[in-house]
Amino acid sequence: MSKVLGLSFGRKMSNCEVMVKQALMTCQEAGHEIRFIRVNDLDLKDCTGCIACVLGMIRGGKGGCVLKDDCHIIDDAIMDCDALIFGCPTFEMTPTGTFKTLCDRLGPSHDLSFRKVAIEEGLAAGKDPDKLPDQRCLKPRVGAFFSVGGAMTKNWLAFMLPTMYCLTLSMGIDVVDTYEYHGAMAHYHVVGNQPVMDRMTEMGKHVVDALAHMDDEEERRRWRGDHEGVCPVCHCDLLTVSQDKKTIECPVCGSYGTFTVEDGKLIAHFTEAEQARSRLRYAGKLEHSTEIKTCAAGPDQLPNVKELLKPYQWE
Ligand SMILES: Cc1cc2nc3c(=O)[nH]c(=O)nc-3n(C[C@H](O)[C@H](O)[C@H](O)COP(=O)(O)O)c2cc1C
Repeated sequence: MSKVLGLSFGRKMSNCEVMVKQALMTCQEAGHEIRFIRVNDLDLKDCTGCIACVLGMIRGGKGGCVLKDDCHIIDDAIMDCDALIFGCPTFEMTPTGTFKTLCDRLGPSHDLSFRKVAIEEGLAAGKDPDKLPDQRCLKPRVGAFFSVGGAMTKNWLAFMLPTMYCLTLSMGIDVVDTYEYHGAMAHYHVVGNQPVMDRMTEMGKHVVDALAHMDDEEERRRWRGDHEGVCPVCHCDLLTVSQDKKTIECPVCGSYGTFTVEDGKLIAHFTEAEQARSRLRYAGKLEHSTEIKTCAAGPDQLPNVKELLKPYQWE
């Protein structure tokens, strides 16, 4: 039996909540333990950008957040779970502010490449494991998520799925399925929209299947979504085009690629090496944590900073 956590960022008993619960109930029927959190009920303060969490980890500590609120409830629930299913409404083409707040609060502080190194170095130095980052972060986890948008036109949800990866990528959660429910305003409530409810049952089944293969990385990670997308790693459809218009980049993964046009279709090509350095994978995360550790300038680089800032000391 595994633990499946469901998070809804929508209104109480509205579309997202019922959809998450439908997927969770499917997992429960398969014998898993489920837990549901309505994120909007919690007190979540915005990240102030103090970076005490990352600095704490780099200096060999636990890397906790200094803010006092309910974030620890979700943090502990995610660390405890084996699978995470979440749904978020579309607000202005992107996930809600609360969703982004949670990503900011958990992103850098839960980055697997920071945490793994901090834990390994700390244990090797004989430190008390309780004073190091939560070691449950090292266990494999799978995830699935969906967006909900009222708009009938799909492009009003344009930045949803790519942005929703921000909740899973730093923690290294292997996303096996995503789904976009657009046109929600044409239905009084999703509970009366059977195809979408069935798709949530399917999402639950995909998570159950992935949970049956936790020790087999390839099978655990296997994409179970309906849509292959242009990127073979995140399966999203968004591309950034280079200024010279010759190359492309997946903005979710940060992988560079090329493209060809065959029979009028744009075909994106990402080499195995570029796929491996996706920030959804450990190598991509390590690349970023290394650049932070090696390139970040300290105050000694600008000894006259106080003087330079003087003209701006006003409000
Ligand atoms: C402030 C605000 C902005 C919204 N912007 C969009 C949008 O850009 N695209 C869209 O498809 N729906 C948009 N919607 C509609 C919601 O995504 C929709 O009502 C959704 O069902 C809410 O999820 P819930 O029912 O789980 O609470 C917006 C709603 C609100 C309140």
